[in-house]
Amino acid sequence: MTTSQRVDVQPAAADDLRAAALPSPNGVRRFPEGFAWGAATAAYQIEGAAAADGRTPSIWDTFSGTPGRVVGGHTGHIATDHYHRYRDDVALMARLGLRAYRFSVSWSRVQPAGAGPANPAGLDFYKRLVDELLAHGIEPWLTLYHWDLPQPLEDAGGWPARDTAGRFAEYAGIVSGALGDRVRYWTTLNEPWCSAFLGYSSGEHAPGRRDPAAAVRAAHHLLLGHGLAVDAVRANRPGGEVGLTLNLYAGAAASDSAEDRDALRRIDGLQNRFFLDPVLLGRYPADVITDLAGITDFGHVRDGDLATISAPLSMLGVNYYSRHVVAAPPARPGDAIDWRGNGNASPWPGSGGVRFVRRGLPVTAMDWEIDAPGLTETLLRVHGDYPEVPIYITENGAAFDDQVGPDGSINDIDRRAYIEAHLGACHDAIQQGVPLRGYFAWSLLDNFEWSWGYTRRFGLVYVDYVNQMRIPKASAHWYAEVIDKHGIAELPPPGAANLS
Ligand code: FCB
Repeated sequence: MTTSQRVDVQPAAADDLRAAALPSPNGVRRFPEGFAWGAATAAYQIEGAAAADGRTPSIWDTFSGTPGRVVGGHTGHIATDHYHRYRDDVALMARLGLRAYRFSVSWSRVQPAGAGPANPAGLDFYKRLVDELLAHGIEPWLTLYHWDLPQPLEDAGGWPARDTAGRFAEYAGIVSGALGDRVRYWTTLNEPWCSAFLGYSSGEHAPGRRDPAAAVRAAHHLLLGHGLAVDAVRANRPGGEVGLTLNLYAGAAASDSAEDRDALRRIDGLQNRFFLDPVLLGRYPADVITDLAGITDFGHVRDGDLATISAPLSMLGVNYYSRHVVAAPPARPGDAIDWRGNGNASPWPGSGGVRFVRRGLPVTAMDWEIDAPGLTETLLRVHGDYPEVPIYITENGAAFDDQVGPDGSINDIDRRAYIEAHLGACHDAIQQGVPLRGYFAWSLLDNFEWSWGYTRRFGLVYVDYVNQMRIPKASAHWYAEVIDKHGIAELPPPGAANLS
């Protein structure tokens, strides 16, 4: 195919979105025209081919190769072997009717030293992938950074070092220079909260450091890198759509006491506002700066940084999984959420004693409480507090213990119910005026779930890690129907098990 082929999905105006989202008479809650239906993945979680064609180690290769860091000693060395199987995977996406595919680029593949020359072989892989997507009518959504910093940059100080932001802008220039003609939708960072606070404060994620002050600096330099990268991408793809993806949580205080409400203010501050405010309002939240006063004086923030960080965005990506229900310190053994499973230091600098309370709601295999109304709440809140920006759900989904039936099928009714409930929550938000333009299920494929290795399955498609066979689960078939109908059933299905 030629590089001029492109799938252009024009975002609709907010009023049209509202009108178009009204229930239609045939029992389908339809989504607005132009609403993007997709699925998401990330480079380290699916590609494998860790040493192929000039790729060098990232912090996740180092981390997963360190005993005790990842369950079972699992690594992304082979993962789902998507690097070699991308053509079949794109064909599978097309069979499922996906209109958009969100993936990330491995920095170590395209710029192995983390600085300096690009690696043409690495860039070629993404050109081939993007061309394959376009040839199948699937809109590519490219994320530049999904947590896999080149190891040489970590050795030089990592995200706590200001220079890393500049390196990221250089890398963004390389990738957008090579793919700007083919890719319209660009995301700079995925979930900088995780990179900063799981990576440098709790150490549950790569690079596994436990230094709260370094984590706060990392957050700032990630955001600075984001702002610089926005400019780099726009220079190479004028008219492109450039955004950032944040993992936002609904919140609740465990009681109405002033102490519990303050715990909520703190956690909401670090999780949500510490990223939303700089990017969309051009300032850090004053209360969070006060909460962090014992850890840092913010001397790392230079004049002009916040103007760079708040470069106008084309869209905000929201990853939503659950709600934080919190109570005042001190934390007690057993009630603090251990975010990814094997850390015992806090990812909440300055607020490490806050208690995370369970309400006894049904949970996923990650032990995350299922709370679809929290998604509507989160979308309304973002739209209310930061009204200008169009929103996409760039991740939402659930891990469950999938079982392959005797006939080889996987009847994952719990995952289907999770996604259906959350799509209902999206529809509710659209009807209340939120400019929500698309939804990406996490994930297309079962994959390497970070410190949980391959023990947690999030895919619409099952992967047999012995032979790399792909089996679309019942949820994938159901999602294909949703895309086809451009909506979900008006009422919850009476017997979900019979319908999949
Ligand atoms: C998100 C990550 C994604 C995956 C899901 C379950 O935080 O962006 O890579 O791990 O959680």
